[in-house]
Amino acid sequence: MLNVPSSAFPAPASQQRVALAGRSKVPLKPGRSLMDWIRLTKSGKDLAGLKGRLVEVTEEELAKHNTKDDCWICIRGLVYNVTPYMEYHPGGEDELMKAAGADGTDLFDQVTAAKWYPRFFRKLF
Ligand code: HEM
Repeated sequence: MLNVPSSAFPAPASQQRVALAGRSKVPLKPGRSLMDWIRLTKSGKDLAGLKGRLVEVTEEELAKHNTKDDCWICIRGLVYNVTPYMEYHPGGEDELMKAAGADGTDLFDQVTAAKWYPRFFRKLF
């Protein structure tokens, strides 16, 4: 058989294809790539809205920040203001909103574990 490159990319048995299976990433708007996000985090803008302070957040306070325009999420005991990140989240705004004003640790772990562990183990065993 001639070694002619297949027109299918990634090739049918490629690792890339395996890695892409079952993903639920959303298309991000122009200007909302990871690189754009990194640029924004380095811009000096006060993204958390707290001027660099750390504050204690009660569950009651956390629950008040549950809209797309004002969204806080708790992951492993730390509360993050994810409002500026909304349009940059590769899983989409709706996914992020599932944890709005609440503890998102379990949801976050479900996605992370489901995503990384199979790939990792596939390589090891
Ligand atoms: C601070 C909170 C969060 C951050 C910083 C974050 C960040 C990210 C990043 C960087 C990715 C892309 C990973 C990759 O490129 O492989 C991603 C994907 C994703 N995230 Fe999040 N995430 C957060 C919270 C959540 C929550 C709470 C959920 C679920 C309710 C969620 C659902 C998803 C989904 C479904 C994907 C797509 C996974 C895929 O199929 O590749 N994320 N997130």
